[in-house]
Amino acid sequence: MAAARRAGLDDVTLDARSTVDRFFGGPFLRFPRQGQIDAISYLAGLVRAVERRGGRIFGRSPVRDVAGGRPARAVTRDGWTVAARAVVVATNTPFNDRLAIHGKQAAYTTYALAARVPRDAVPRVLAWDTADPYHYVRLTDDVREPGAPSGGGASAGELLIVGGEDHKTGQADDFRRPHARLESWTRAHFPMVEEVAFRWSGEVMETIDGLAYIGRNPGDDPNVFVATGDSGHGMTHGTIAGMLLCDLIDGRTNPWQLVYDPARLPMRAAPELAREGTNVALQYARWVRGGDATSVDEVLPGEGAIVRSGVDLLAVHRDDDGRVHARRAMCPHLGCVVSWNAFEKTWDCPCHGSRFDRFGELIHGPAQRGLARVDDAGADGFAVRAASAVLDAALRSASMAAALALRALRAIRRGEAGPGAR
Ligand SMILES: Cc1cc2nc3c(=O)[nH]c(=O)nc-3n(C[C@H](O)[C@H](O)[C@H](O)COP(=O)(O)OP(=O)(O)OC[C@H]3O[C@@H](n4cnc5c(N)ncnc54)[C@H](O)[C@@H]3O)c2cc1C
Ligand code: FES
Repeated sequence: MAAARRAGLDDVTLDARSTVDRFFGGPFLRFPRQGQIDAISYLAGLVRAVERRGGRIFGRSPVRDVAGGRPARAVTRDGWTVAARAVVVATNTPFNDRLAIHGKQAAYTTYALAARVPRDAVPRVLAWDTADPYHYVRLTDDVREPGAPSGGGASAGELLIVGGEDHKTGQADDFRRPHARLESWTRAHFPMVEEVAFRWSGEVMETIDGLAYIGRNPGDDPNVFVATGDSGHGMTHGTIAGMLLCDLIDGRTNPWQLVYDPARLPMRAAPELAREGTNVALQYARWVRGGDATSVDEVLPGEGAIVRSGVDLLAVHRDDDGRVHARRAMCPHLGCVVSWNAFEKTWDCPCHGSRFDRFGELIHGPAQRGLARVDDAGADGFAVRAASAVLDAALRSASMAAALALRALRAIRRGEAGPGAR
């Protein structure tokens, strides 16, 4: 409550009996001016606005290199070069960064389901708890007629969307469990739930202090910008990024630029930084442990497992017809060993969240290409690259820690080190 007041939200109240407490069972902070938008309609409107002003949008044109300067350049994987006054890398997590950003944000897999509920049985609010892992709920129309506009039209009832049960990408004891836990939680708190109609999952980038990184890419030319670290608030952060980055590119100051500055290292986030750094460093230990299976024969149809082959580790998937598909298990980003996600049937990297399909093709960065083929001679230096990545990670974590320590010392000398020191 005090934090909300400090942020200027004067109308937030602590409600002992809110419209949703009977489902969650506790007092609530109530934010009265909530809004709900249809994300697809919002995006369609943005596309129309860009095109109206003469902009052109090229999908399916992955970029492999970005360089600042005059002009800045983006080079696509097909070899085309786009020259511009400035480049904004808004690829969810930046592919053009080694550790300046990836050392300060972590990829989390988050789960969601949509369950049918009778109309008016649940109040139309967005509500979330403070558990770890957290849960949130919201309501939308259950539009079943084919071709009906999303969010409108004749509707049979309502869909309760429930999300949460996040875990670090690539790090779960059993990838099937979060969905089961989410459904049990839903049924325990919302007994009016009928069938679960949809389930899905995705990734969110959690920063060390909860706010997005929007601004100049640290350590890069001044006309290369990033927008990342949405922490599950991509609609809000994306809108802020549009406003803030326009000002920065046009040379105007913006009151939010320090708040979202990608180069920031808040002192209060030092424990989180250390925790995440240690977690990532520990993932590299996988290289010296055994595989999930001792031989390819143990991998069941429809499943995948890491199998040791000499000094190398292989990501092995057996398809439903019994054919074996093997790739090298080293993530092409910075050399971690990928994990088999038995629910999504994907290979997920536990270090910075890259994801690959069951055959090893790239789904989501920061990696820029799929897992190397077993006979790919160019991937032979995996041990050297993994070792250099660990060293790189250690050096950067140490330099971040040193920078924080230095700032703490300076603040103590100036007598400023209090809870508000940043
Ligand atoms: C289950 C779930 C629920 C969520 N709920 C909410 C919510 O209620 N409210 C909210 O505000 N946010 C929510 N979020 C978060 C929000 O969806 C994301 O933060 C947001 O979509 C991120 O937007 P983005 O543009 O950064 O990334 P994306 O939407 O992932 O877009 C990145 C784009 O970059 C492209 N790309 C990637 N690599 C390259 C390359 N090398 N070259 C060219 N293009 C490339 C991709 O193809 C993609 O089109 C949720 C997320 C999940 C997973
Ligand atoms: S995403 Fe960075 S090592 Fe895999």
